[in-house]
Amino acid sequence: MTQTTTIEDVQTMLSGQDYVAGRALATVVFLALRLGRPLFLEGEPGTGKTEIAKAIAAGLGRRLIRLQCYEGLDAASAVYEWNFPAQMVAIRTAEAAGAADREMLQAELFSADYLTERPLLQAMRPDPAGAPVLLIDELDRTDEPFEAFLLEALSDFQVTIPELGTIKAPEPPIVIVTSNRTREVHDALKRRCLYHWVDYPDFPREMEILRARAPAAGESLSREVVAFVQRLRTEDIFKRPGVAETIDWAKCLLALDVVELSPQTIADTLGAILKYQDDIARLEGSEAKRLLDEARATLGPAG
Ligand SMILES: Nc1ncnc2c1ncn2[C@@H]1O[C@H](COP(=O)(O)OP(=O)(O)OP(=O)(O)O)[C@@H](O)[C@H]1O
Ligand SMILES: [Mg+2]
Repeated sequence: MTQTTTIEDVQTMLSGQDYVAGRALATVVFLALRLGRPLFLEGEPGTGKTEIAKAIAAGLGRRLIRLQCYEGLDAASAVYEWNFPAQMVAIRTAEAAGAADREMLQAELFSADYLTERPLLQAMRPDPAGAPVLLIDELDRTDEPFEAFLLEALSDFQVTIPELGTIKAPEPPIVIVTSNRTREVHDALKRRCLYHWVDYPDFPREMEILRARAPAAGESLSREVVAFVQRLRTEDIFKRPGVAETIDWAKCLLALDVVELSPQTIADTLGAILKYQDDIARLEGSEAKRLLDEARATLGPAG
């Protein structure tokens, strides 16, 4: 079992999963694990919020359970549902066999056999490997009633099913909540959690990420790619590229056997880093060359 008794242990555990975490992020992960508190990660798109839950689960050898949030998500899809079609089949079968003892049938229909467990309930089940990692992804996409419901679930890690009783997690799951901040998440929920803002990485860290995730790109191309993306993020564009885009772009350039950026190769592959036509149009003409020159200037003399 992986021990995470220090912040360095956490960093090592994450880098073992090719996840690059700075000191601040590693500290908050360490504390979340140590204190058993949910971790609330907010930040720009594509900066590794979802990925860290996967890295923690893999690094600790735990099961990852993901609750993807969306507008209209309700308790039935998040916790449990009775398997209605299976219940109907059971009723029909019992009727056909003439064995429809009402009370027995009712008890059977609302037993674990007919229960469909959804992520929150799954996360409360004991696991021989240890408590699972529960990723509640993109919480800002749900509505406030669900958030209130979640607040309760996160406070006592138990679920009451009227027909079955209360199910309580013997060991609370490791909870990671993420948000892209398309709206503010309630203070009450944030208060339960440790909070960390995941920003775009600086140059050295993004280089490290590229080394881990696209090692074939090599040092010199990676430096240009990262410098260009970093420069692009300071432009007034509609959707700034995340780390995911940096990695994608490096892989595209590799696939095209590009060893060095040029205005032409940038124009040919812009779709890997910019996903809006207005942003792409901005880089047409001499703009790409200007940004490339400026990005190169930050790299200093080639060596
Ligand atoms: N610190 C990091 N170390 C290693 N890889 C990273 C890191 N940050 C981002 N990545 C890479 O970027 C990709 C996208 O990250 P992820 O999906 O976690 O972003 P996100 O913050 O959840 O974005 P979104 O808000 O759009 O869901 C990951 O698959 C991973 O390859
Ligand atoms: Mg995500």
